[in-house]
Amino acid sequence: MALGPTSRGLAAALLLVCCLTAVAQTPSPQDLARKNGCMACHGMVRKQVGPGFAQIAARYRDDTEAPRRLAGKIQEGSVGTWGRVIMPRQTLVTPADAEVLARWVLSQPPLP
Ligand code: HEC
Repeated sequence: MALGPTSRGLAAALLLVCCLTAVAQTPSPQDLARKNGCMACHGMVRKQVGPGFAQIAARYRDDTEAPRRLAGKIQEGSVGTWGRVIMPRQTLVTPADAEVLARWVLSQPPLP
């Protein structure tokens, strides 16, 4: 079947939609964590400057309020929960990104 002008236009439109969607795709939580400098202080598992993400997940495993509370803490900062080191407030993290990051941290598998 030869492609008429209409279907060629349609194909071009579909191609455009597909590429725009790829660009607009939300970054993965890992990308967010890297982009926002979380990994400068946090390890995936063990304590560095701040607690390891797996340690955080283990601590709040049965806490249904944890996603919302931690999203708030990621934005506002925290001190005294794990020790005396301060996590400064992360002013560049949007509320939506903070929520994604909190859920991702809490979804880390338990410590080996
Ligand atoms: C300058 C170092 C530093 C950076 C950067 C940092 N953190 Fe933290 N984070 C800490 C420290 C220290 C603590 C422990 C604070 C406490 O004891 O209350 C902590 C605690 C946390 C907690 C647990 C809070 C609680 O109530 O148990 C989460 C979740 C967290 N950080 C996520 C993040 C995310 C996500 C980012 C990136 C947007 C980030 N952190 C960036 C140092 C940091």
